[in-house]
Amino acid sequence: MKPVIAIDGPAGAGKSTVSKLIAQELGLSYLDTGAMYRCLAFRALDAGLTVQDGDKAAELMEDIHITFGVGEPQPVFINGEDVTTSIRTPEIGEAASALSQFTPVRQRMVALQQELVRGGGVILEGRDVTTVVAPDATLKIYLTASLEERAKRRQHEFIAKGMEAGFQDVRNQIEQRDHRDINRDDSPLKVADDAIVVESADRTPEEVAAKIISHLKAKLQ
Ligand code: DC
Repeated sequence: MKPVIAIDGPAGAGKSTVSKLIAQELGLSYLDTGAMYRCLAFRALDAGLTVQDGDKAAELMEDIHITFGVGEPQPVFINGEDVTTSIRTPEIGEAASALSQFTPVRQRMVALQQELVRGGGVILEGRDVTTVVAPDATLKIYLTASLEERAKRRQHEFIAKGMEAGFQDVRNQIEQRDHRDINRDDSPLKVADDAIVVESADRTPEEVAAKIISHLKAKLQ
């Protein structure tokens, strides 16, 4: 059985960057579960729903087929339409976080994600992948850093994409997102019992990736 690596942790901890590096290094496919929630949020807002319409949003899932391409940034498609850039705005991030609190949404997402992980050879990242989506993963990592550090990183990401982002605004957004993700009733963000906590502050993405790969090697021995 090919390995499954699950990377959990709060917003801005570096999960995506590090997961992509590991995917490349080990020849695994990369599953960005947050992008799937973002796709749903994008479609829901487009259809005129609000972030309170969790049940209706879950029904929309029946008509949405999400696929990923290869590249940087990783191309994302809804029913063949390229939404790579449109799903990365702060508004869609907020809406994804709000809609992800609804159990019918989560149930459908988790079923889809488990289907994608079934064959192994995958690194997946998101807030519940170690606790709910892939509790039997070969390696479970909780990647974290302080709020200040994560806000700094997110701010740089936004600026690099040409978006305006004041530090205090980004910090507040992340703090709110943490609060919501940690306190939601269904599958809250938490450290799985058998997850290894990895601190990403003061380390480059390459160093974090190397650390996780060394944990995988130790696990497989
Ligand atoms: O990782 P991200 O910022 O792209 O995720 C957007 C939101 O989606 C996040 O705030 C919560 C939700 N999400 C989730 O509930 N479970 C996941 N596995 C991934 C994301």
